[in-house]
Amino acid sequence: MPESSNAIRFDRVGVALGGEPIYRDLSIDVREGEFLCLLGPSGCGKSTALRMIADLLEPQAGTVEVLGRRPEEAWDQVAFVFQAPRLAPWRDALRNVTLAMELRFDGMSVAAMNERARELLTLVGLARDAHKYPRQLSGGERQRVAIARALAVEPRIVLMDEPFSALDPNTRRRMREEIVDIWRQTGKTIVFVTHDVDEAVTLADRVVLLSRKPTTVVETITIEAVRPRDVQTERGLVAVRERLHALFDALEEAG
Ligand SMILES: Nc1ncnc2c1ncn2[C@@H]1O[C@H](COP(=O)(O)OP(=O)(O)OP(=O)(O)O)[C@@H](O)[C@H]1O
Ligand SMILES: [Mg+2]
Repeated sequence: MPESSNAIRFDRVGVALGGEPIYRDLSIDVREGEFLCLLGPSGCGKSTALRMIADLLEPQAGTVEVLGRRPEEAWDQVAFVFQAPRLAPWRDALRNVTLAMELRFDGMSVAAMNERARELLTLVGLARDAHKYPRQLSGGERQRVAIARALAVEPRIVLMDEPFSALDPNTRRRMREEIVDIWRQTGKTIVFVTHDVDEAVTLADRVVLLSRKPTTVVETITIEAVRPRDVQTERGLVAVRERLHALFDALEEAG
């Protein structure tokens, strides 16, 4: 298949799990280098979409393409950041980051791995915490390690599944700013799952709002406002935010 300018393409995807239809003709495109937020009510299949991109689940109808290929041919271009950081407790921050490289890059020298891991920890603001163990790190710091670990395998696409939802509001706000900086510095394609309207409006180039099951796209909204964004006060964002809140609340109420 030829390389397309889309990083990810869902074309009329259908999936049923446990006999229950989850998607009906779900079509989504994610452009290369884009920050795309998938927004939708609980259970609509946001995590399922990420699993399909990462080749952990196959569609029963339609096609999923990743970098112009089948997901099974592109898995090494994809990395995950989950809601919980899932770090190895017996390894310090640096060695949690190198773990990903050990598993992925056969023959990479320890010195090269350490150097790269240090660069990534610096990128996520943990230059001085490389030798702390997960239990010695705050929730936000642990999630930063998980982001560094995801970047360590040099993916072109980073999938983030509600990565900040377990953090306190101030940390969450800071992490949102930081992930935008990281995205800018690295040029990755990011697919970021959330059920927080304000988070989506703060972060995304485009927000794809999903319906309840069987899931289709309700609306795709492009947000051009410069970052960092303040969704509470910026005039250009107020209308977008209100519209998404109204659509989203209607979906939640329908459940
Ligand atoms: N292995 C499975 N067997 C049966 N049903 C499943 C399975 N995995 C997921 N589902 C169902 O598929 C639907 C989509 O699940 P998914 O985890 O993708 O939702 P989500 O949008 O990520 O929800 P949340 O916002 O709560 O994380 C849910 O209704 C879930 O119950
Ligand atoms: Mg989920």
